[in-house]
Amino acid sequence: MISKKMENMVANSSAIRAMFEEGNRLAKIYGAENVYDFSLGNPNVPAPDAVKTSIREILEEEDPVLLHGYTNSNAGYEEVRSAVADSLNTRFNTSFNTKNITMTVGAAGGLNVILKSLLNPGDEVITFAPYFGEYRSYTNNYDGVLVEISPDTNSFQPKLDEFEAKITSKTKAVIVNTPNNPTGVVYSEDTIIKMAAIMEKKQKELGTVIYLISDEPYRELAYDDVEVPYLTKYYANTVVGYSYSKSLSLPGERIGYLVIPDEVADSEVLISAVNVATRILGFVNAPTLQQKIVKKCLNEKTDISYYNRNREVLYGGLTKLGFECIKPEGAFYLFVKSPVSDEKLLCAAAKKYNILIVPGSSFGCPGFVRLAYCVSYETIMNSLPKFAELAEEYK
Ligand SMILES: Cc1ncc(COP(=O)(O)O)c(C=O)c1O
Repeated sequence: MISKKMENMVANSSAIRAMFEEGNRLAKIYGAENVYDFSLGNPNVPAPDAVKTSIREILEEEDPVLLHGYTNSNAGYEEVRSAVADSLNTRFNTSFNTKNITMTVGAAGGLNVILKSLLNPGDEVITFAPYFGEYRSYTNNYDGVLVEISPDTNSFQPKLDEFEAKITSKTKAVIVNTPNNPTGVVYSEDTIIKMAAIMEKKQKELGTVIYLISDEPYRELAYDDVEVPYLTKYYANTVVGYSYSKSLSLPGERIGYLVIPDEVADSEVLISAVNVATRILGFVNAPTLQQKIVKKCLNEKTDISYYNRNREVLYGGLTKLGFECIKPEGAFYLFVKSPVSDEKLLCAAAKKYNILIVPGSSFGCPGFVRLAYCVSYETIMNSLPKFAELAEEYK
């Protein structure tokens, strides 16, 4: 018999995944071109050519035994971590060193490693709705408690009064995700400054340390030159979790990193803990070939003009039909207000037109639905008449 904890996890298993499977089922019946699957954040833009070239070069250049072996440190190859640190320092005027970087198995691996390192049972982790639903599972993995801040459904910026009120002596960490999944909103510099001031104040008042975890898989997917603040500059106890899943379109390859700056409280101990957590969670080290690839591709990124075109067309098309939503500044999601308060009814109605969308309750924000527009342009164009039929139902 499986554990009680897993029983619950299986029972609540991701609605998004279920949608994805539904998409495959519908594609078999109606043909893939007649299914409008906006359910999953799986990039459809190919990785930059440099990734392929790098793989070839690495296989030619490197000693295969070393290349495919365990890394000396669980944190990853020194040369890779050092190159990542240099690249961040150039881009964000930071002063990271090799030791501040730990290579991880994607952002998901990084979040698990840092939460394993930080949480005692009962510790609280605050996050802002709407949020990536897996934060709940990751926190639960280490017997932490996820505390939600309710959404500001006008701006989708964090509600700072509620944030301040919900920080307690048990608050160990705060997770922010900007550009955000599922809204596409980028937290403004003003928001970040205010948030940092609240955490500073609360740390003093409570005599505790509150870690800010910045989950950044969408950092490079920002449109119209919007500024995405680099959070270590605003709050000393910031840990950054990065991933190449979206920026290089490599989600299946499982590669990312954590930044734990020297300024972070107990930095050295935390870095050692993260090293051990990488090992004992069974990751051992981030995939070695992928580490070498990202080193060669530090200045590369996926072609976001593709997502940008989808964003414009889908946002324009849906708002014209009367759907309400905020224009995303980053990532590849549109978070649309449901014309009926139970958004699951909208998802069910959409399915009649072979449109697959995800209920906002999966992100702690009922009354909205998420559309992942990392799909082909044709899918978007062909879906618009179907959305028009759907909109008619709510006139
Ligand atoms: C906000 C957010 N965090 C983390 C992840 C996990 O990403 P990775 O593939 O890097 O593990 C995702 C994936 O979609 C995400 O949307």
